Amino acid sequence: MTDDIRFSAPGRINLIGEHTDYNQGFALPIALPARTTVTFRPDGGDAVVVRSDREDGEVTIPLHTTPGDVTGWAAYVAGVVWALRKSGHQVGGGAMRITSGVAVGSGLSSSAALECAVLGALSAAAGLRIDRTEQARIAQRAENDYVGAPTGLMDQLASLRGEPRHALLIDFQDDTVALVPFDPAATGLALMLINSNAPHRHAGGEYAARRASCERAAAALGVRSLRDVQDRGEAVLVDVTDPVDARRARHILTENQRVADVVSALGDADFAAVGRLFDASHASMRDDFEITTEHVDLIADTAVRAGALGARMTGGGFGGCVIALAAADRCDAVAEEVRSTVVRAGYHPPTITLTHAGAGAALEPSRH
Ligand code: GLA
Repeated sequence: MTDDIRFSAPGRINLIGEHTDYNQGFALPIALPARTTVTFRPDGGDAVVVRSDREDGEVTIPLHTTPGDVTGWAAYVAGVVWALRKSGHQVGGGAMRITSGVAVGSGLSSSAALECAVLGALSAAAGLRIDRTEQARIAQRAENDYVGAPTGLMDQLASLRGEPRHALLIDFQDDTVALVPFDPAATGLALMLINSNAPHRHAGGEYAARRASCERAAAALGVRSLRDVQDRGEAVLVDVTDPVDARRARHILTENQRVADVVSALGDADFAAVGRLFDASHASMRDDFEITTEHVDLIADTAVRAGALGARMTGGGFGGCVIALAAADRCDAVAEEVRSTVVRAGYHPPTITLTHAGAGAALEPSRH
């Protein structure tokens, strides 16, 4: 009997650098401790039959699936099967079980965790050796061209390349990753993860609209991507005549700079400066990129008012999670203040946990 293959991949939190990935800019994510695990039993057949602990029933995915065949949650699985084959990798059929530990719809990249875990399991079963940057691109292709979400490469790179106690400084011009030590607990601090429990909605087309705005701004400046004008400063944006596109582009240019500034503040162990940069990033997402909601604004503002060093929404936007950096001994007070203020304002209570940088995707010991 063939052994089951178990492969797990984490969700991610982006510390800073939002919507910069598809603009060939910079981001600084960490892998989450929460992971999605795929258990795969190859059977030599011509389909992957998948079930998930979160969904009823099973879905049969023919190995020759093409975009449009499978929709809903299993489209992420089918997309990986399709993208692997499209990229020239032969994979085999079998029975697949998914156990998801990453909150869905919270901006923590449960979809990238699923794609990367499926990709790892299918590749391991087929004996494929694909380097991790290429794996990330294949998983992104599944999401862009099979599922139909025009997202960048950050989530997949974070899930695949994550390292404990480190953030990943990603340069999306060439998709390279540099490890940046990130261990706030070592200096008496903590990273709070405040889930608003308001599902984010990329489906509404707002994500695609932001992307289109950035592309129009680059075109107005006569460059391929906004990265090409990064060194020229904000003044360059006078040539973007559409005021909305200009503000979107300003967020990208200032956000790229904040990523660099956070990396240098972390190098100096200056967490107060990191906190101020989180706040500035949140303000830029609220005012220039317009991807926050009153609900997440209230969470971020309240966390800072209650003593956090800084707070910002993380992920694609329109709901989801806020991260806050705070002294470990202030976290309970911050959490209490956020909870009571948010509930008083009529929103659902948030889920508040402490988190840290975890490990990237990995093969797990198999169970017999
Ligand atoms: C989503 C996308 C990423 C990235 C972020 C915003 O998570 O999947 O590619 O664009 O939004 O930073």
